[in-house]
Amino acid sequence: MKVLVTGGAGYIGSHTVLSLLENNYDVVVYDNLCNSSVESLRRVEKLTGKSVKFIQGDICSKDDLTKVFNQFNIDAVIHFAALKAVGESAEIPLSYYQNNVHGTVCLLEVMQQQKVHNFIFSSSATVYGEESDVPYVETMKLGTPSSPYGASKVMVERVLADTANANKEFRGVSLRYFNPIGAHESGAIGEDPKGIPNNLLPYVAQVAVGKRDKLSIFGDDYPTQDGSCERDYLHVMDLAQGHVAALNWLNRNDEFRGVEAFNLGTGNGISVFAIVKAFEKAINKTIPFDVSPRRAGDLPAFWANASKANKELNWQATRSLEQMMADTWHWQSNNPNGYLV
Ligand code: NAD
Ligand code: UD1
Repeated sequence: MKVLVTGGAGYIGSHTVLSLLENNYDVVVYDNLCNSSVESLRRVEKLTGKSVKFIQGDICSKDDLTKVFNQFNIDAVIHFAALKAVGESAEIPLSYYQNNVHGTVCLLEVMQQQKVHNFIFSSSATVYGEESDVPYVETMKLGTPSSPYGASKVMVERVLADTANANKEFRGVSLRYFNPIGAHESGAIGEDPKGIPNNLLPYVAQVAVGKRDKLSIFGDDYPTQDGSCERDYLHVMDLAQGHVAALNWLNRNDEFRGVEAFNLGTGNGISVFAIVKAFEKAINKTIPFDVSPRRAGDLPAFWANASKANKELNWQATRSLEQMMADTWHWQSNNPNGYLV
């Protein structure tokens, strides 16, 4: 089976490409490299001993996408390509809607023309918005996320529902990721943020490696056990395997038509202080931090009810918090400058 992976050179994409190859899927990566480097794919090739076909291109170009579908016999698409910086999305919302919403519509139009109907979308826990109770369950209504980034994910889920209503052949899966962290156990591929990291783990790892002085913990006065926010962190290789499980599910369920959402998380909330402690334990060193005011848009606590993915996809996050910390450190310490060698 040949899978087109948009955004496959990025953090989650590169780990998923590796898992797909290990599971004997044939992969074509399509990425404009706006937030990644082909070096990630070279390393995936080394790790797997298999080659990865790479086409540099933008999902907003229907002409370029059409050429890819004409060149390769694509059976399914896994769609990672998107802009993902929450703060930036409030500064340049139109770029986020253009890239994430319009880009997805272009891709879906080309897929429809090409009669390719299997589609897996990178959604996010952010689609539950501010109003949902925890743990989040797929039966909850889509909420109102606080950022244009989050809104773009809700919009695409709506686009997928309408596409499935209109196109009776469509077979879509929305995977709602919680907080992916960690890296492949080899330490050869991992998360390589450009500039100052927005997310917790890359920031902690850069403090540990000496690239940043100290971590700022955004708020210790939340109504949680230790006052800091709680999130559902899952290992990126568990998440990668979730995509393989979703493809296998589509393949098993010939009759399936429509669009189905699955939470991918561990089901546990971990606080920011607990993450810092776990990281310190993994590297046997202290992480300097201070406590600063809350970050706009942060919710106190959320985690997944992942039983639907457990039951239907036959998928479960299996890697421990210790392993997430150790693998983050392995990647960061081996590659202090990411893919820039
Ligand atoms: P990433 O930035 O590492 O990967 C995204 C990839 O898409 C990059 O390689 C980038 O170059 C490419 N890309 C962006 N716009 C493109 C375009 N117009 N055309 C072609 N390629 C384009 O991000 P990631 O963390 O790997 O995230 C992958 C997906 O998962 C995104 O859709 C993101 O919104 C979603 N997601 C991520 C997280 C997370 O915590 N990392 C959580 C929930 C959802
Ligand atoms: C953020 C996004 C979410 C997106 C996800 C993955 C917001 C409001 N939400 O989730 O939409 O899907 O990233 O890209 O931005 N923290 C610190 N110091 C730091 C960085 C983070 O204390 O330097 C705290 C945050 O306040 C939060 C936790 O660490 O409580 C996790 O933060 P982060 O990694 O950015 O993920 P989310 O905020 O959960």
